[in-house]
Amino acid sequence: MTKLLPSMGTNLRVVIVGSTGGIGAAFVEKLAASEQVSQIYALSRQGQSHPSPKVANLTFDFTDETSIEAAAEALRETGVFDLCIIATGLLQGQGIAPEKNMRAMSLEAFNQSFIVNTFGPAVTAKHFLPLMRRDGKAVLAALSARVGSISDNRIGGWYAYRASKAALNMILKTLSIEFGRRFKETVIIGLHPGTVDTGLSKPFQSNVPEGKLFTPEYSAEKLLEVIEQIEPKDSGSLFAWDGKQVPF
Ligand SMILES: NC(=O)c1ccc[n+]([C@@H]2O[C@H](COP(=O)([O-])OP(=O)(O)OC[C@H]3O[C@@H](n4cnc5c(N)ncnc54)[C@H](OP(=O)(O)O)[C@@H]3O)[C@@H](O)[C@H]2O)c1
Repeated sequence: MTKLLPSMGTNLRVVIVGSTGGIGAAFVEKLAASEQVSQIYALSRQGQSHPSPKVANLTFDFTDETSIEAAAEALRETGVFDLCIIATGLLQGQGIAPEKNMRAMSLEAFNQSFIVNTFGPAVTAKHFLPLMRRDGKAVLAALSARVGSISDNRIGGWYAYRASKAALNMILKTLSIEFGRRFKETVIIGLHPGTVDTGLSKPFQSNVPEGKLFTPEYSAEKLLEVIEQIEPKDSGSLFAWDGKQVPF
């Protein structure tokens, strides 16, 4: 059997949060096709079904913490998890668009962006990290973004998205410190997927250089390679699709 994640054993049990997203769905497909994975719990707002018997669907919404708690509770008795990928995110939506300048900032956009990009992943970690295995490598990875790097911010704009991803990076770093004290083999990281052809990036693809717009399948494949390579010493960091660490 060719293993997708050789460092993580067999019969892997995985949670994908945001399985309807472009990149989230690609993770589900890739992992469902691997013999190394025995079970995938796909969490989405709609709870759509999947043809693979390995994939079970659960619903949740980041606007309601009890829905996240209920999803975790439903999985508590099923066994421990090896991998949890939080693949949700929000760049634009009802009444919100990436800000070109400070006049475009609004409390509503900050609220929505922080709920989906920061607070939702934080409380998901709160409810799902206790379900991760303790006797070997376990990974919680949240999709972040390079634009959340403060030191990498050279062109400005996109206030709510940038700030919410920077705050997500801080949450992941802080979780890694708390968890690293007790559970040395749990690795908590942020991932930058590259610029990926999904609904999220659709309106902003015109300036992407030739060959730099990835398919969701390619991005998910590269991110799984990163998850394979990371070790406990990497916990709390942000990694790009090519395995390079992104400085905060
Ligand atoms: N695409 C890129 O170029 C790119 C670049 C850098 C970083 N990223 C990051 O990569 C991650 C995945 O992005 P993507 O491109 O796959 O985006 P996407 O296709 O728009 O998927 C976004 C996902 O987030 C979910 N979501 C949004 N609001 C939610 C809420 N209130 N509660 C629960 N789920 C919610 C969506 O659910 P519904 O299907 O129900 O709407 C969907 O599953 C995001 O964190 C994004 O910031 C993407």
